[in-house]
Amino acid sequence: MSVNLYMLFVFLGIGVLVFILILKLIRQRREYRILFESVPCTISIQNKDFEIIQYNREFADTFDITQGRYCYTVYKGRREKCIVCPVSRTFKDGKSHYSEEERTNKDGTKKFWIVKTAPIRNAKGEITAAIEMCLDATHRKELEEELTRSEKKYYAIFNNIPNPVFVLDPDSHRILDCNRSVEAVYGYGQAEVISRSFLDFFVDEDKSHYEFNLNNANEINQVKHAGKNGTIRFVNIRISPTEFLGQHVLLVTVSDITKRLEAEQQLSQASKLATLGEMATGVAHELNQPLTVIKMASTYFMKKVSQNEPIPTEILNNMSEKINNNIDRANRIINHMRDFARKSDMRLEKVQVNEVLEKALEIFSQQLKLRQIAVVWELQKNLPVIMADAGRLEQVFINLLINARDGIERRWAKKEAADSDGKRITLKTALKGKKVIVEVSDTGTGIPTGIQNKIFEPFFTTKDVGKGTGLGLSISYGIIKDFQGDIRLGETPPGGGACFHLEFPIHQLTQATDYGKKQNIAGR
Ligand SMILES: Nc1ncnc2c1ncn2[C@@H]1O[C@H](COP(=O)(O)OP(=O)(O)O)[C@@H](O)[C@H]1O
Ligand SMILES: [Mg+2]
Repeated sequence: MSVNLYMLFVFLGIGVLVFILILKLIRQRREYRILFESVPCTISIQNKDFEIIQYNREFADTFDITQGRYCYTVYKGRREKCIVCPVSRTFKDGKSHYSEEERTNKDGTKKFWIVKTAPIRNAKGEITAAIEMCLDATHRKELEEELTRSEKKYYAIFNNIPNPVFVLDPDSHRILDCNRSVEAVYGYGQAEVISRSFLDFFVDEDKSHYEFNLNNANEINQVKHAGKNGTIRFVNIRISPTEFLGQHVLLVTVSDITKRLEAEQQLSQASKLATLGEMATGVAHELNQPLTVIKMASTYFMKKVSQNEPIPTEILNNMSEKINNNIDRANRIINHMRDFARKSDMRLEKVQVNEVLEKALEIFSQQLKLRQIAVVWELQKNLPVIMADAGRLEQVFINLLINARDGIERRWAKKEAADSDGKRITLKTALKGKKVIVEVSDTGTGIPTGIQNKIFEPFFTTKDVGKGTGLGLSISYGIIKDFQGDIRLGETPPGGGACFHLEFPIHQLTQATDYGKKQNIAGR
């Protein structure tokens, strides 16, 4: 009895356990069902014939299940199986597969789907069905297409910019990409330059400061670049660091300024020759002095020789030395004139402003002496060098000196008494912050406020026909801008007259701009 009772309890216990287990299974099944129904992607289960045997709510809402039984009919309105089918691959290898497909929705719209498949196995491990989950990726696809379109558009713009544009690796300066305009300027096709170093274009032997500037400056101006077959072009370079295809790069735009420079060079040469013409009297006067000394000495020698008189050694020595010194002086004047007249090669180099100012006055001083115009020097010693072209800078100073001379002449021409007191040109240099300042001021007529904004315009002159060309200040302005400098009217000197204020960035600054790294480049 007691054994039977015991057995009864055991069976009852097992029965309760089985019941609980069944309840749990039912609950789990319901949970899976809910999950299956409510996941935000379409799910279908297909047998080996690609018949849809089960599907979730999202699937029913999206696709037209009344179309037929087969997945290819429901998804794509096809009569036969698709050529590429992730479900058939899953049946073949038992693995999960992925594909991207375009399908037609219930409402007839075409959508883009990301498809993922997985096998369903029976108790024996055999694949009896496959589950196919699809996520609507239409928006992502549209974004991708939009991105591709916009990339294409920007690439077309990039390619059609008339200036050469390069994309450089910031460390090696290798060319990662470039546009079509490179060919027009350099003669190289795009394929020929890609992966070459951008530094190869620079003509100079020492490329270290270009290398430095590419990473530290935002522009490099008026440098020589060599194209195919060694053709040399003058270029201005603009550099901007940016991101390109997820990589940090330098976007480098080049403008070919060769033609502009050639035109400028011709114009400035013409104006230089006009200046030389204007200075001819002064130079003749300057040359006259050494010639007079030589003439006097030779006359003395000839007289002594014709009278058969001995020349004392001391006098002979003294006079020969004078002749020698004066020939040197005449030579210097002629060489200087020749240098001044020579066409500039438009190269920028390190220039000491004080030296150029002194040199300009060397050939101009006679002009001033003849007119009793005094020169007051206020030069600051040990000025840092600037990047310029000494010949063209001298041309600027001579233009300013001619204008000052003319201004003074005009003022004194109006005066009744021919008193030369007060005829004065002051030449001042100074270092202010990171700029070298030059001021040329005079005690002439000054510039009336009404024309102050016109004086830098080409061909603007208030001088008589044949006297002024109106080119002096406009050419000077262009030259100074090439040196990254500036010229403007300064404060009117006390007592009247004009003052021209010029400033130039010191060499170090033209090498490294505001955000330059701290490196010692002054010695380069
Ligand atoms: N130092 C100066 N004093 C008075 N006027 C000046 C001075 N410098 C320039 N100007 C004015 O600016 C004009 C333009 O100068 P510039 O371009 O050198 O041409 P140009 O000397 O041939 O007239 C001059 O005609 C003159 O009116
Ligand atoms: Mg002038």
